[in-house]
Amino acid sequence: MNLKEKIREIENFPKEGISFKDITTLLKDGDYFRYAVDSIVNNLKDKNIDVVVGPEARGFLLGAPVAYAMGAGFVPVRKPGKLPGETEAFSYDLEYGVDTLEMHKDAIEPGMNVAIVDDLLATGGTTKAVAKLIEKLGGKVVAVEYLIELEFLEAKEQKLSDYEVRSLIKY
Ligand code: PRP
Repeated sequence: MNLKEKIREIENFPKEGISFKDITTLLKDGDYFRYAVDSIVNNLKDKNIDVVVGPEARGFLLGAPVAYAMGAGFVPVRKPGKLPGETEAFSYDLEYGVDTLEMHKDAIEPGMNVAIVDDLLATGGTTKAVAKLIEKLGGKVVAVEYLIELEFLEAKEQKLSDYEVRSLIKY
């Protein structure tokens, strides 16, 4: 199954010069959606994953079904002010400015095996921040799985060389 043919590329969204990778065209096809989720689940088998961590919002779309299929837990990473309990926050640099992500402090227990699942790897800033949050709480990031990787940005080499990173579709 060629997953890439189900990704719609929209030029100049959300701003001039960006070729946006729209995953909704893949998600709405039941066979392709299941194949994508099953492929990530297959990459994670034998890794004894306790919880899958998914960053808001598109990370929820893949992370939750992957966790469900493996019988693992799911932990959301959210933008500031959304989680009701006590949170741990992590700020990271964007091209222009700073962004912050939050996770519940009790979401990860020390020693847990954690997989990060997201739709897309671009600069790696989001994943790096999420990995640091997980590690701060005592979890072990045993794998990072994406639907799409923008290989030309070289995030794997530049930001995520400490982690086992895989993607199903590459640009
Ligand atoms: C997108 C995407 C990843 C992140 C990748 O999320 O879903 O989480 O950006 O970029 P990076 O590798 O440069 O950090 P976005 O922040 O647009 O939020 P959304 O999922 O709510 O649309």
